[in-house]
Amino acid sequence: MQEAIRKLLEDASREISGSREDPRQLDQIRIRYLGRKGELAQLFKQLAQVPEALRRDCGKLLNEAKAQIEELLSLKLIEAKDRSAERRDRVDVTAPGRRPLRGRLHPITQTAMEICRIFHWLGFETVEGPEVELDYYNFEALNIPKDHPARDMQDTFYISEDVVLRTHTSPLQVRVMEKRTPPIRVIAPGRTYRCDSDVTHTPMFHQVEGLMVGTNISFGDLKGLLTIFVHQMFGPETGLRFRPRFFPFTEPSAEVDIECVMCRGKGCRVCSQTGWLEILGSGMVDPEVFKMVGYDPEQVTGFAFGMGIERIAMLKFGIDDLRLFFENDLRFLKQF
Ligand code: DAH
Repeated sequence: MQEAIRKLLEDASREISGSREDPRQLDQIRIRYLGRKGELAQLFKQLAQVPEALRRDCGKLLNEAKAQIEELLSLKLIEAKDRSAERRDRVDVTAPGRRPLRGRLHPITQTAMEICRIFHWLGFETVEGPEVELDYYNFEALNIPKDHPARDMQDTFYISEDVVLRTHTSPLQVRVMEKRTPPIRVIAPGRTYRCDSDVTHTPMFHQVEGLMVGTNISFGDLKGLLTIFVHQMFGPETGLRFRPRFFPFTEPSAEVDIECVMCRGKGCRVCSQTGWLEILGSGMVDPEVFKMVGYDPEQVTGFAFGMGIERIAMLKFGIDDLRLFFENDLRFLKQF
């Protein structure tokens, strides 16, 4: 009996150590030796025929053999698991690399940066202000008192009676002048909001405001500066014209049209056959606005302008639908 146990243990160890590290093969070995009808079970059965004096020792030997085989099997199984994890973690340096996904700037951001770049080159500095704005800065200080009909030009989102989502970037004019003294040359890009939604309007859009204040600054300076800007942005052959228009915070005020970039002034669908496209509002800062920020209108003069970035981007890239900017379709965005 002892001899049989010794041989069984030897066979089992040999078989386990010689096996592949394959859980299914190890399971077969386990069944063969430790199973209910396995080789150990057979020996346990024969225990009854072992002479009384040896039975205790043989039983002990059998139990030890069983424990040892279980141990060998579980060790081998752990080894198998480790080995397969190792195989998984190994780096195959010959495999082709994975190309990292590369993002890009949104066409609106690109256009805003291009506008700012041109004005930086002209000596302007970028400033920013809050999108949730006081009624005072958005309207009041820009010479648009409560109940003034000019408020109807802008469909405003009101947060409360005194707080709005800014309808334009013009409040930056007041915020900057309150904090600084002339000379001032700033541009302020950012998001703006109006309660308006159709083919040519989205509730959120972007503007860039410009402000230059100093001594002896004239309408001629405004014309010269905007002409340089248009030539930089759309090419030196692009014509532009100034059209009189009313804004409460500038006097006199003008809207600026550029020659249609699609038909070069001949007249097409984009420019409604006029040959011209409106791109911005501008004018000489109204003396009333200077008074609001404590400047003496007899001492300082200046001009301001504001343009819609979507409009400029559409003309620059030849995009004919405003909504494309905000649908976040990668097939569209990847083209810029
Ligand atoms: N804030 C005006 C708007 O949103 C645009 C504008 C007009 C800005 C004239 C100016 C300006 O700075 O002088 O319609």
